[in-house]
Amino acid sequence: MHLGGIYENGAVRGGIELPRLLSLLARHDANAPIQGLSAVPPADRPPVNVVRFAFQAMVAIGTLLALLGIAYLVTWRRRGRLPRSRLFYWLVVAAGPLSLIALLAGWTTTEVGRQPWVVYGVMRTSTGVTAARGISVVAGVLLAVYAALAVAIIWLLRRLAHRSPQSDVREELRLRPV
Ligand code: HEM
Repeated sequence: MHLGGIYENGAVRGGIELPRLLSLLARHDANAPIQGLSAVPPADRPPVNVVRFAFQAMVAIGTLLALLGIAYLVTWRRRGRLPRSRLFYWLVVAAGPLSLIALLAGWTTTEVGRQPWVVYGVMRTSTGVTAARGISVVAGVLLAVYAALAVAIIWLLRRLAHRSPQSDVREELRLRPV
């Protein structure tokens, strides 16, 4: 198994090599053989680097998120308070967008990784492409709806962010005077 690096002509270059780890992970036995990419005809291989990069990005982000949770729990248990380092809070801020990137990377891993098959060994993606007309119209409408939703969400979040938490309380009091 390699962490990082680029796949080129049948080998990974520039990655950190971790011998036997893949056997251990996939077969729970450090000596179990793993069938390599060379067993797959070149025409049946997915774009290897896209899959590797997406998978590794997902796992790296997942590991970071887990470490963030552990750091929080350890501080809470040992000191009975929230972490105080700025780095921790910067990472908390980054965790939201990073989770979304991990989600997309996971999806990319699955979808690109199964290429060129829709159903492995039975039906190729090229055979599964629809011949229906008007796809670009449907795609255009979908894009417009999502773009409108994105604008609405940004507007809403900015509006909420500009209001102080106290203003909510005051509004509440105005509605129900005590
Ligand atoms: C240590 C961390 C992680 C590991 C080891 C891991 C492992 C995996 C594996 C083995 C797959 C299946 C790939 C395949 O189809 O062959 C997968 C898919 C996926 N992962 Fe992760 N993952 C991790 C973190 C994350 C995180 C943090 C997210 C999102 C926040 C995520 C989202 C996804 C998604 C959306 C899929 C595709 C599911 C599908 O389309 O069936 N993963 N992951």
